[in-house]
Amino acid sequence: MTSQELRQSFLDFFESKHHRIVPSAPVIPHGDPTLLFTNAGMNQFKEVFLGTGTRDYTRAADTQKCIRVSGKHNDLEEVGRDTYHHTFFEMLGNWSFGDYYKKEAILWAWELLTEIWKMPKNRLWVTVYKSDDEAMELWKTVTDIDHSHILKFAEKDNFWEMGETGPCGPCSEIHVDLTRDGNAPASLVNAGNPELIEIWNLVFIQNNRIPGGELEMLPSKHVDTGMGFERACAVLEAMRTNFQRPPSNYDTDVFLPLLSKIAVLAGKKYTAGTTETDIAMRVIADHIRALTFAIADGAIPSNEGRGYVLRRILRRAARFGRTLELREPFLFKLVDTLVATMSHVFPEIKEHQQHIERAIHGEEEGFNKTLDRGLILFEQAVVNLHDSTTFPGDVAFKLYDTFGFPLDLTQLLCTERGLAVDTDRFDVLMKEQKKLSQESGGTAEYPTAGKFLIPATVTTDSEFTGYTQLETEASVIGMAGDYIILDRTPFYAESGGQVGDTGEIIVNGMTVPVRDTVKDHNIVGHFVPVSDMNAAAREMLQTLPAHATAKVDAARRLSIMRNHSATHLLHAGLRTVLGTHVHQSGSLVSPNHLRFDFAHFAKVSDDEMRAVEDYVNEIIASKIPLQHHYAIPFADAQKMGALMFFGDKYGERVNVVQFGDISKEFCGGTHVLNTGDIGYFKMRSEGSSASGVRRIEALTGTNALEYLSLQNKTYRERIEHAYTLVDEIQSMQKLLPADSLLAQEDTTGLDIEMRKLEQIPDAPSEVLTLEVGLEFAAQRQRFRELENFMLLLMEKKKGFEKECAKVKFSSAATDFETLVHTAATVGSIRVVASKMDAGDIETLKTLGDALRSTLGSGVGVLAAVIDMKVQLVCVVTDDLIKTKNFSAGKIVGAVAKTLGGGGGGKNHMATAGGKDVGKLDEALANVIEIVKGMI
Ligand code: SER
Repeated sequence: MTSQELRQSFLDFFESKHHRIVPSAPVIPHGDPTLLFTNAGMNQFKEVFLGTGTRDYTRAADTQKCIRVSGKHNDLEEVGRDTYHHTFFEMLGNWSFGDYYKKEAILWAWELLTEIWKMPKNRLWVTVYKSDDEAMELWKTVTDIDHSHILKFAEKDNFWEMGETGPCGPCSEIHVDLTRDGNAPASLVNAGNPELIEIWNLVFIQNNRIPGGELEMLPSKHVDTGMGFERACAVLEAMRTNFQRPPSNYDTDVFLPLLSKIAVLAGKKYTAGTTETDIAMRVIADHIRALTFAIADGAIPSNEGRGYVLRRILRRAARFGRTLELREPFLFKLVDTLVATMSHVFPEIKEHQQHIERAIHGEEEGFNKTLDRGLILFEQAVVNLHDSTTFPGDVAFKLYDTFGFPLDLTQLLCTERGLAVDTDRFDVLMKEQKKLSQESGGTAEYPTAGKFLIPATVTTDSEFTGYTQLETEASVIGMAGDYIILDRTPFYAESGGQVGDTGEIIVNGMTVPVRDTVKDHNIVGHFVPVSDMNAAAREMLQTLPAHATAKVDAARRLSIMRNHSATHLLHAGLRTVLGTHVHQSGSLVSPNHLRFDFAHFAKVSDDEMRAVEDYVNEIIASKIPLQHHYAIPFADAQKMGALMFFGDKYGERVNVVQFGDISKEFCGGTHVLNTGDIGYFKMRSEGSSASGVRRIEALTGTNALEYLSLQNKTYRERIEHAYTLVDEIQSMQKLLPADSLLAQEDTTGLDIEMRKLEQIPDAPSEVLTLEVGLEFAAQRQRFRELENFMLLLMEKKKGFEKECAKVKFSSAATDFETLVHTAATVGSIRVVASKMDAGDIETLKTLGDALRSTLGSGVGVLAAVIDMKVQLVCVVTDDLIKTKNFSAGKIVGAVAKTLGGGGGGKNHMATAGGKDVGKLDEALANVIEIVKGMI
C-alpha cells in the first residue's frame, strides 16, 4: 500500500461509518490566539467541544496538517536523531461530537488496524488512563486483544490536553511492536523506543482546562482520535519487509523522494543509519515540510512569534546543510520535490510554490552570510573552554545578536559536544538588550501610553464617544499630573498604531489645549502640560467633578481617519496584488501620513506599487460606505472572515471595520464614513523595515495631492532642484574640518553626473510631467535615473548635515565649559540661558543633552531661531528634579510665555516654541527669575 492509498483507506473506512470527510484546517490557526501552529486534528473543532460552536454533522474524519515545535507539544529536539518524530506531520483523525463514545471509538480503531490494514494483533499494545476502567473493560470485550497487552498509565501518558487551556480528557493509545521477533516486553511501551511506537491516540474529551488550571466538565462527551500518518506508513512498510529492517518513517514514500533529492544535491548517500550525514538528511527532509506548509498557509520567517519559530527551523536546516557541505542556498530547491509528491492532497503548496521558494531562498541567503563566521566563533569558544562543559552565555548571545544563531541552534551545537549553554547569562543579556531598545525607541516629544498614574478616585473605564462625536459634554473626574481624566470623551487615545487625538477641553469658560491622548488600561488621559494652563484653570481643576466640554481637533482627526481607512484598503490591495501571505506586522496612522509594515519576502516592484495604488484609488472612487460593527461577539467577527492580527489578544467583544467586500478587519480605530472621503491615495516610499518585512509610507487627501504636484514637476524643474542639492552639499563640505572623511570626498563627481543627466536629448520632455512622461519608455527611464540620482543626493545631504551638526556640536561643547563657568547662580544652582546656532530642533536637543552633562547641578535653557520662530530647549539635572521638584517642562513653558508660545515635556528635558523673535533676549533674561520662583 502506498502512503496515498493508506490515507485514502482511512478516510474511506470512516466514511463508511457515516463520518463527514472534511478538509484539513490551515496549519496556521487563524482563529485561535492561544496556539502558534495547528498541533492536532481537533483544533478546528475546539469550540464544538466547548459547546460554543456547532457543525451540521456529528461525525467527522480528515487528515490534518500539524506542526509541533512550540508550547505543550514540541518534538523539535528529537527530530532527525530518531526516526519517528517530526516538526510537520499529518494526523489522521475521526471525531464524534456528542455522538458515539468510547465503545465505537475502540471497536473501529481495532477493526481498521487489524482487519483492513491487517496489522498483526500480537504486535499491538494499548494503554488506558489509570482510573478509566470503562475503557479497560471495552478493550477486553469488544476486541480480541491479548489482555496482557492492556496497560494503565497516569496523566503524563494517558490524559490528553490541547494546551495550557482547552478541551481535554482521558485517552487510550495504541502502540505497535516493531521489533524483529515481535516479542517486546511491556516495559518498552511509552519508553521512547523506536521499536515500540504509539500510532493512534483515542481521546475521550469530557473536560475543559480553564485559565488557572482547574478542570471543568463539558456539557457533552466527545471522541477525538489522532493517528500519526507517517508512523502508520512506517508500520505498513515494516510489515512488508516482515519486520526485518529497523523501522523508520523516513523509509517510506513520504520521505524517500526528498531524501533522494537531498542526496543528489549533496553528492552523498543516505544510508538510513545514525551517521552525521543520515541525521542531517533526515532533519532537512523534515524541516522543509514544516517550512513549506507553514509558508503556504500564510506564515513567513521573521523575528517574532510564529515567524521566529520558522526562522529557527530554517536556520537549523541550513546548519545541517553545512554538515552535508551544502554552502549555497539549497533548501528552496526541495520545495519542488515536495510539491510533486504532496500537492494532490494539499494543492495550496503548488498554488503558492513560487512564493514559498522565494521566501525560503531569501532567508537562506540572508543567514548564509553569517552562518560560517558564526560557526568559527563557536569553535573558537569551544577551544577556549578547556575542561569546562558550560558554554558561556555571552558567546551564545553574540552568536544570536551578531550572527543570527537562534539560542536553540547554539544549544544543538553544544549538545553535539556534550556542553550546556549558560542560559541564565544569555537571558540577562537578552533582557538588557530589550530594555535598551525600548529606551532608545522612546524619544517622543510628549510622553505616551501608560505614563500617568490613575488616581484612586477613578474606578470606571472612560466611555469613548468618538466614533460618532467630536464634541462631548463630560465631567472632569480626576487629574493625574499632566493628564485630565473625563468620565466620557470623544478623544481617541493612541492605540493600534493610530495616534492620539488633540483638541481642547473647556471648563467653566476656560480653554485648556489637549496635546495628546493616551490610555492606561481603559482609562483615557488627556495630556495637558500644566505649563499650558494658567493658575486659575489649575485651581479650578482641583474642584472635582467639574463640568467640561471636550472638543477634538476635527480637521486633524479627519486626516487621521482618512489615513486609517486607507491603511485598511492598502492592506487589501497588497493582499490582492502580492498574495494573501501579506499581513500587517505594524502600522502608524498619523494626520500627515500612514506607515504600513507587512510580511513579504521581496521588494515590491514599481509595477506592483502602481497596481496597489490604482486598486486603492479605485475603491476610493467607488465610494463604498463604512460598515462599523461595534462590540460584536468574537465568534461572529470570525465568522465574517474579518482579518485578525497575530499576537493580539482579543476580548469577548470586538469591533470590526468593513468596507463592502473589499476589507474586513478587527479594529478599534476611527474611520471615514465612506471610502470617497479619503480623496486620493499616493504611496511615497517602499523599503525594507526588517528581514522579511517591507514598509510602505503613503499619503491621503490634500497631503497626497500636494505630493503629487511635486511629482509633476517637469524634468527641467527637477534638474534645477538637483543642482540646488549639489550646491548645498558642496557648501556644507566647506564647513567641515580638513581631517573629516566627508571633507575629502570628491563632490565634483556630482557636477559631472548632473551634466550627463542634463545632456540627454529631451525634446518633448521639457513640458512633460512624470505621469505623462511615463508613456514614453525612454523618458521614463530618464526620469527614473534622475529620480534615483536625487535620492542619492538627498541621502548624501543628510550625511553632510549630520557631520556638520557634529562639528557644531563639538565646538559648542567647548563653549559650554565657558558658559557653565561664567553662569549665574541661584543659591548653589547654576543657571545657563543662551542663544545657539542650530538648524533644527533635533540639533538643539543634542546641544541640550551636552549642556546637561556639563552642568553638574543646574538648569539650562538654550534658544535658537529656526524658520523665523524661536525654539527653546530646557534641561534640568537629576539632583534638582529629586530634591527641588524642578521640571524642565514647567520652566520652558514659563520662558515661552514671554515669546507668545508654549510647550512641555519631561522633567529632565523639554522643548517649547514661540513666535515673538524680538522678545528672545527678554525671555532669556527671565530665566533666572523663573528659577528663583520655583524654589
Ligand atoms: N488530540 C489527540 C492528539 O493529538 C488525538 O487526536 O493526540
